[in-house]
Amino acid sequence: MTTLSEKSEFNTELEQIEERYQKRKENQTERLYSPLDPYVLMVNQERERAIHRWMNATSIGQNRNQATLLEIGCGAGGNLLRFLQWGFQAENLCGNDLLPDRIDDARELLPQNIPLIAGDAFTTEFPEKAYDVVCLFTVFSSILDNDFQEQLANHAWSLVKPGGGVLWCDFIYNNPKNKDVQGVPVRRVKELFPEAKMSYERVHLAPPIGRRVSRIHPFLYSTLNTLPFLRSHILCWLEKESEK
Ligand SMILES: C[S@@+](CC[C@H](N)C(=O)[O-])C[C@H]1O[C@@H](n2cnc3c(N)ncnc32)[C@H](O)[C@@H]1O
Repeated sequence: MTTLSEKSEFNTELEQIEERYQKRKENQTERLYSPLDPYVLMVNQERERAIHRWMNATSIGQNRNQATLLEIGCGAGGNLLRFLQWGFQAENLCGNDLLPDRIDDARELLPQNIPLIAGDAFTTEFPEKAYDVVCLFTVFSSILDNDFQEQLANHAWSLVKPGGGVLWCDFIYNNPKNKDVQGVPVRRVKELFPEAKMSYERVHLAPPIGRRVSRIHPFLYSTLNTLPFLRSHILCWLEKESEK
C-alpha cells in the first residue's frame, strides 16, 4: 500500500516529469523528433522491424486481432496508430498519458472508440490482469525517481494477463547532455520486472551518432547499426507465466 508520505514524494516526481516535458516544448527540442528528420525516419523503421519480429515470434502477435493492448505514456498516439495498422483492433486498444495536451493530440489522431485516459498511470484504475500487452515506450527514462519507477512497474505488471507481457522500448545509456532523462540498463529492467521471462534486442543507433550519419547518407546509418554496441535502445518482451 502507498503511504501518504510516499504519495507526496511521488507527486513531486510527477510535477517534475511535467516540468521536464514543458521545458522540452519551450526549448523546442521537440523538433528533434520531427518525422522529416532523417534519423527519426531510420529509428521508426528499425523499431517497426523489431516489433514485426516480436509479432512473428509470439502467439499474441500472431493473434493480434484478438489481443488487448494498453499503452502507458502513449504520448500523441503514434504507436497506437501503428498497432492499428498492424492488425490490432481499435476496440481492444487503450491509451494513457500523464499530460492532457498529449491525450488531446492522440484523440485527434485515433479512432473515437479507443479509450484515451489522461493522468498518472499509477493512480489510474485500469482493470487488473486485463491486457495481453502493456506497452511502455520511452516512459521510464523520463522517470528519475527509483521508487516511483518500481511502483509504476509493479502496477503495469498487475495489469498484464497471465501469458501476456510488457512490451518495453527505451534507451540503456545516459545522455550526458540531458540530465532530464536517464538510461535504463538491461539489468534495471530485469529488477523492475523480477517475475518476467525476459527477451530483448538492441534496436537502433544512439542519437549522437545516428543523427550525424543519417544526415550524410542512410547507408552510413545502416552500416554502423550492424555494430550492436552502438545501439542505444532496446525492445524488450517481459512475459508473464500462464496460469496452470
Ligand atoms: C518520451 S514520451 C513517449 C511517448 C510514446 N510512448 C512514444 O514512444 O512516442 C513519454 C511519455 O510518458 C508519459 N508519462 C510519464 N510518466 C507517466 C505516468 N506516470 N503516467 C502516464 N504517463 C506518463 C509522458 O507524459 C510522455 O508523454
